[in-house]
Amino acid sequence: MRRYLAAFRACYESVELNYASKANSTLAVLAIAASEGLMIDVASEGELRAALAAGVPAERCHLHGNNKGRDEILFAIEQGIGQIVVDHFGELETIAEISAARGGLGDTELVLRLAPGVDPITHEKISTGQADTKFGFNIADGSAERALRRCLDLGLPLVGFHCHVGSQLLDPEAQRAAGELLGRFAVRMKQHHGFETRHLNVGGGLGVAYGEGDEPMEVEEYCRLVVQSTLGAIQGSGLKPTLAQEPGRALVAESGVTLYRVGVVKSVPANGIGTRTYVSVDGGLADNPRPALYGSRYPVERVSRATSGTETHARRAVTVCGRHCEADTLFEVRLPADIGPGDLIQVLATGAYNASMASNYNRYPRPATVLIREADPGGEGEAVLVQRREAWEEMLAREILPEGLAR
Ligand SMILES: Cc1ncc(COP(=O)(O)O)c(C=O)c1O
Repeated sequence: MRRYLAAFRACYESVELNYASKANSTLAVLAIAASEGLMIDVASEGELRAALAAGVPAERCHLHGNNKGRDEILFAIEQGIGQIVVDHFGELETIAEISAARGGLGDTELVLRLAPGVDPITHEKISTGQADTKFGFNIADGSAERALRRCLDLGLPLVGFHCHVGSQLLDPEAQRAAGELLGRFAVRMKQHHGFETRHLNVGGGLGVAYGEGDEPMEVEEYCRLVVQSTLGAIQGSGLKPTLAQEPGRALVAESGVTLYRVGVVKSVPANGIGTRTYVSVDGGLADNPRPALYGSRYPVERVSRATSGTETHARRAVTVCGRHCEADTLFEVRLPADIGPGDLIQVLATGAYNASMASNYNRYPRPATVLIREADPGGEGEAVLVQRREAWEEMLAREILPEGLAR
């Protein structure tokens, strides 16, 4: 977070870094982000409630979402949310209605989410900036300009524009192009409607290294590129907006490590490869759905061995799989050939979109999260529990067994 903020600040005098809390909304992580001077991007009332519970003032949060409920919007406004990123015309009308009923929106500002129409090079399930997307107002078909006009006509406190083209971007070209398109749009809106853009947010998306061949750009270079393309497009227009970014993954993925205990190791005949060895662990799909969702890869290592005796240095290809009732294939990796029951393995770069995407599938309680706090220079550091392991009672706490069905 410190490095990203410093890199961004070095490019332009008026910047704002938001932490996209969907990546990991553990209260401790939210509190750290806020204490480092980041704003918090929330994509739901639940994420806003988490930020508030972490002690983040609502005015330091921005609300996203392509299908926000009226109650969700109202709650955010009542709390004094800093910014709402408006996604569609219906939402604009809802906000206008709330504003009329309350005599204004207080200090809440609005930005319009735009679909700039660029195709990022990433997994299709995490691409959001193309024209064919459920998010935002399309620039090319005129929706974005009509939305701006509507805001002005309704007297809503619009301050600027937002886009987010996709996640895990290893090739930043789409992000560069989006910054430029956003900037050009802002200039056109000044020419056509006299609108002075005060805020331009180019979203998140910087990729991280999950494995061999992943070579994300250095954050300093990335910030330079994004700032240059956006500022280049507004040059000479007289506009002087705050530039914002809202990364999630790039801030937290590499800070996270998942520990699994190996249960069963089983070798079976397999077409084409002769034998496959399955290493089953005490987790899987429910704590990390990303391999199943988008075939994500991760670095995996053994960190402790249950048996004593000489450790082998030979490695073999194994399929690490989870305990859920799908194939639940997690990682195709090479592990020490004597990997066995009781060994602990660590999966690196699991700080983003793991805990926050975890479920109770198969009625497994969600795992605990431990924060390793950096010590003062030369100190030892400290491990603190920041999310306890879910209790069995919590797993059934929402259940209501109707009378007559209870035995
Ligand atoms: C609107 C928005 N902003 C920011 C992010 C964060 O993206 P990333 O974690 O890739 O930085 C996302 C991710 O889906 C998003 O949808």
